[in-house]
Amino acid sequence: MSSINHKIVFLGESAVGKSSLVIRFVNGKFSPSQEPTVGAAFLTKKITIKNVNYKLQIWDTAGQERYHSLAPMYYRGAGAAFIIYDITSYDTFEKSKKWIEELKKLGDPDVRIALVGNKIDLVEERVIEKEKGQEYAEKNGLMFFETSAKTSENVDKLFIEMTQQLQSS
Ligand code: GTP
Ligand code: MG
Repeated sequence: MSSINHKIVFLGESAVGKSSLVIRFVNGKFSPSQEPTVGAAFLTKKITIKNVNYKLQIWDTAGQERYHSLAPMYYRGAGAAFIIYDITSYDTFEKSKKWIEELKKLGDPDVRIALVGNKIDLVEERVIEKEKGQEYAEKNGLMFFETSAKTSENVDKLFIEMTQQLQSS
């Protein structure tokens, strides 16, 4: 059975939930004690949308600063990038802007970028309002989502909408 391959990269500060989102999507699981990624992890997932088969090749990068210099290896050649922040942390939102700037400068010129605010289950701890993320995304021509890897809210949507975007090129 033939399928269309798409390379997707996850970027963002450490502990925002990149691995948790990818594992939720690929394996349908969530761990409250997910360990920090070392270097990067590679996962694949096959999905079918409107009778078309896709194979998503997902690079889940490590957010810890000491791995920053490795990132270009993973975002180069990627058709899509998800930039994740944690809605309970202002610093991670600021860091996501830095990632977007870097991608726009050094990534492939036609890379599709989505900004993603994760951990929306932590309602009481929210510091970044949805509008704030949305506004930044709109100004910079990015897709925008809010997700929870814990409850799985919007996680499938993230991948499905991005795959459809990639297809409409
Ligand atoms: P690095 O690999 O170091 O870059 O971190 P990461 O971005 O991959 O974060 P990871 O997925 O390891 O998650 C960090 C912590 O946040 C873990 O304890 C997760 O269980 C927790 N976490 C991730 N997503 C969510 C979420 O949507 N809600 C809640 N409440 N916790 C989450
Ligand atoms: Mg990780």
